[in-house]
Amino acid sequence: MSLILGIESSCDETAAALVTSDRRILAHRLAGQEAAHRPYGGVVPEIAARAHVEILPELIEQVLAEAQIALAEVDAVAATAGPGLIGGVMVGLVTAKGLALAANKPLVAVNHLEGHALSPMLADPDLGFPYLLLLVSGGHCQLLLVEGVGRYRRFATTIDDAAGEAFDKTAKLLGLGFPGGPAVERAAASGDAGAVPLPRPLVGSAEPHFSFAGLKSAVLRAKESGKYADADIAASFQQAVVDCFLDRTRRALEVADGATALVVAGGVAANQKVRTALTGLAAEHGLPFVAPPLWLCTDNAAMIGWAGALRFDAGLVDGLDAPARARWPLDPEAEKARGAGVKA
Ligand code: KG4
Ligand code: ZN
Repeated sequence: MSLILGIESSCDETAAALVTSDRRILAHRLAGQEAAHRPYGGVVPEIAARAHVEILPELIEQVLAEAQIALAEVDAVAATAGPGLIGGVMVGLVTAKGLALAANKPLVAVNHLEGHALSPMLADPDLGFPYLLLLVSGGHCQLLLVEGVGRYRRFATTIDDAAGEAFDKTAKLLGLGFPGGPAVERAAASGDAGAVPLPRPLVGSAEPHFSFAGLKSAVLRAKESGKYADADIAASFQQAVVDCFLDRTRRALEVADGATALVVAGGVAANQKVRTALTGLAAEHGLPFVAPPLWLCTDNAAMIGWAGALRFDAGLVDGLDAPARARWPLDPEAEKARGAGVKA
């Protein structure tokens, strides 16, 4: 059994947690920065990095105090080393290096996407490898076969925007505020999902890739037409995303052999319509459906500590020269999607 201090700072959440390899979260703290970024309608990297500098040390002190654990008692210090906003990643990683050096503990440099990918296992002890994962966050939209710790086969990615990005842009277009995903979900609750005809990009195509740029433009046109209520646009947009998820995941289940469960993770996995739709799809295929609790879907340090614990137990520790990486694919062998932009 190992005990890991986990640190997360790759976007606009500053977080620290103490997690054991037998799935106990001894303490976790998270400080969001919504108020600081709200005036700009999105995350400002420079503001995020400065906020991490100010907030992270006290969060680490708080989790150690709450769990009554001394730094000398942890087995390793794990931090997100990418992908993400590089200034923020550097704050968390350098903090982890300082603590590891001071306490003479190993460092585990965690891929943030691996944190999301393994987070469902932290909440569900019955989930085993391999599982098909729909990873939907602010920066990514991928379908992966999770074969083991550090072993991922990517079947699909987005050729333009990420799913969370589409929610955030839709929220901005509709003036629903920031952060966008939860705002769109709230607005959609009182809207008619069939009211606005919107496209389902790439639905029906053989490769299970995603595309959301055309959907976003269609939302803009619907708004500018003045014909529809905002709640109806939000609900129709959300339904279009859900339909894309369903069709693309169904396709991936056909091509990804051996999946023992259908799993969703990342911030967009907090969306109730998404969870309900995927529950039905899993049942269609006779597979269990696993989604982490809502707080484990969006960015947090428990998932980084958990990924750190699994890596530490597998002997996968890193040197103090571990790099901070703005980009870091989970499956470096995966082919680029045809027509893909820089985000693939
Ligand atoms: O995983 P995450 O916290 O950060 C990244 O690694 O990107 O994901 C954040 C994304 C944002 O785009 C946010 O709008 C979206 O997840 N999100 C949601 C919901 N909650 C968060 N999207 C749809 N419905 C939600 N309830
Ligand atoms: Zn994330």
